[in-house]
Order: sequence, then C-alpha cells, then structure tokens
Amino acid sequence: MATSSKDRRQTPLIVFGSRTDNTRRVAAAMAKPLAAELVAIDQLKDHQLRGRPVIGLGSGVYWLRLERGIVDLAGRIPPHCRAFIFSTSGWGLSWDAFYRSELEKRLKQRGIEVIDRWHGPGQDRNPFFKWMGISRGRPNDNDIRRAREFAQGIKRRL
Ligand SMILES: Cc1cc2nc3c(=O)[nH]c(=O)nc-3n(C[C@H](O)[C@H](O)[C@H](O)COP(=O)(O)O)c2cc1C
Repeated sequence: MATSSKDRRQTPLIVFGSRTDNTRRVAAAMAKPLAAELVAIDQLKDHQLRGRPVIGLGSGVYWLRLERGIVDLAGRIPPHCRAFIFSTSGWGLSWDAFYRSELEKRLKQRGIEVIDRWHGPGQDRNPFFKWMGISRGRPNDNDIRRAREFAQGIKRRL
C-alpha cells in the first residue's frame, strides 16, 4: 500500500541491497521494532525518500564494497533526515568500517547524521568461495536478535 506524505513524516524507511538474501533478512528484523517501511534498492522511487525522520541503508559486501546503489543513495537522501547503516559480509568482520567508509564519507559530505552502524556475518554464496562454507548458517537466530536490538536502540534515539 502506498505511504501518504503524512505517514512518511512518522515512518522510518529501510532500503537494502541484497543479492543472496542475508541482508534482506537482517533488514526485515530491523524493520519490526521501528515499524519501518522496507524497500529493495532496485524498487526504490525518489518520492519514497521524502519526509522521513530516518532512513536505514543496508547492503551485503561484494568484492570489498557495498552495493553501488546503496552508496549512491547517499546523494538522494533529503537534508535533515538522519541515517543508520548496516551490512553483512562473509569474512572480515573487523573490516566493517572499511566496507562502509565510502558511504559514510558521502553522507558526511551532505551533512547527514549517521545515528549508528551494525555489521554481521552472512553466509558467502559467491560461486568462487561457497565451497569454503564461509559464515555458514549466518545470519543465525542470534544475529537476527542482535539486529532487532540494534533497531530498538535506534528507535529510542529518534
Ligand atoms: C559476488 C559476491 C562477492 C562477495 N565478496 C565478498 C567480499 O569481498 N568480502 C566478504 O567478506 N564477503 C563477500 N561476499 C559474501 C557476502 O558479503 C555475504 O554473503 C553477504 O552476507 C551477502 O549479503 P546478501 O545475502 O544480502 O547479498 C561476497 C558474496 C558475493 C555473492
């Protein structure tokens, strides 16, 4: 159902890029406590961005980078809207700051405040690496619970 401009002023939006479903599952877990509208980056229309109090941007990591469309979204977020960022990757959990650095930089250039960040493991289904079983079974129930708690924390800060 289409969200009216009045509803958008109260409803957070979560936009995600997810090629193998891990980040979409995390995004869905975050959407619940925030009562957020959830949209895949390739379905997003500009009017859906307008008037939001906060927008969450989430992506898997592909060849060391977040999905291009999610990074480019930094240039489309309206001023005065706040943001949070989340990502999943097969390995390199300690590299999460590096993975999001380009997106963070672009948000900062536009003066968009990043409220918080979340990163978790996601099973790697890349045809070249899937035989290695990297982060098999992730995100698991515990990861999903962590994602939900993160979103509860965001809600308290709105
Ligand atoms: C094409 C491709 C490239 C990937 N490149 C990386 C990478 O550079 N580093 C990494 O840690 N994980 C990498 N992964 C694993 C993904 O980041 C991980 O599985 C993530 O959870 C995928 O999110 P998604 O299921 O939402 O697409 C790659 C996966 C795919 C399919």
